[in-house]
Amino acid sequence: MRVNRDILRDELIALHARTPALGAFCALPDPLCEQALVPYVSPAAALMQADPGGTTAAFERLRDALVAATPDVRWRETYKDTDIGEDFVSKFACYQLIGPAEAPFNAPDMRSFVVWTPPGLHYPWHHHPAEEIYVVLAGEAEFAVHGAPSRTLRPGDHVLHASMQPHAMTTRDSPVMAYVAWRGDLTTPPVFTLPEMVSL
Ligand SMILES: [Fe+2]
Repeated sequence: MRVNRDILRDELIALHARTPALGAFCALPDPLCEQALVPYVSPAAALMQADPGGTTAAFERLRDALVAATPDVRWRETYKDTDIGEDFVSKFACYQLIGPAEAPFNAPDMRSFVVWTPPGLHYPWHHHPAEEIYVVLAGEAEFAVHGAPSRTLRPGDHVLHASMQPHAMTTRDSPVMAYVAWRGDLTTPPVFTLPEMVSL
């Protein structure tokens, strides 16, 4: 655990340093310090462990560290009590990496997560007050942002979501693993977007 936590810290710092859009989006605390958390492993975590998604060589070490951290982090079930249903909840894998609490590393003014979804999953339109950046680490997915054409993103590609801008994500034949960072309102959770809001 000790060794993997150090690898994870090094790889997260390296990811921010070598991804210009991420570096511009938010700065990591220096030093990036650990904090205590109560681990929780969700059912979706096992799916990510079984099929992390392949990757380019650039993110292999980070991908492996993210998977190896599975028992030591607090996996989230963000949509457990929503109308989306158990099937989606059981397949949407996510844990926080950096944040004010419940993450292995502390930051007062940003949060970041790893998100993984299996092939053939549609993550419907949703929005939140926080500004957001996705950086794909492994696999690929189609990213939809309200007001712009959909794009297929692969390892190294990124997309920005403005505050309250609806966005959606769909995997086809491959899973996707992405690094997601938030800035701004860090406490208001995402909600699904009403259909009439994205049909205009
Ligand atoms: Fe989002």
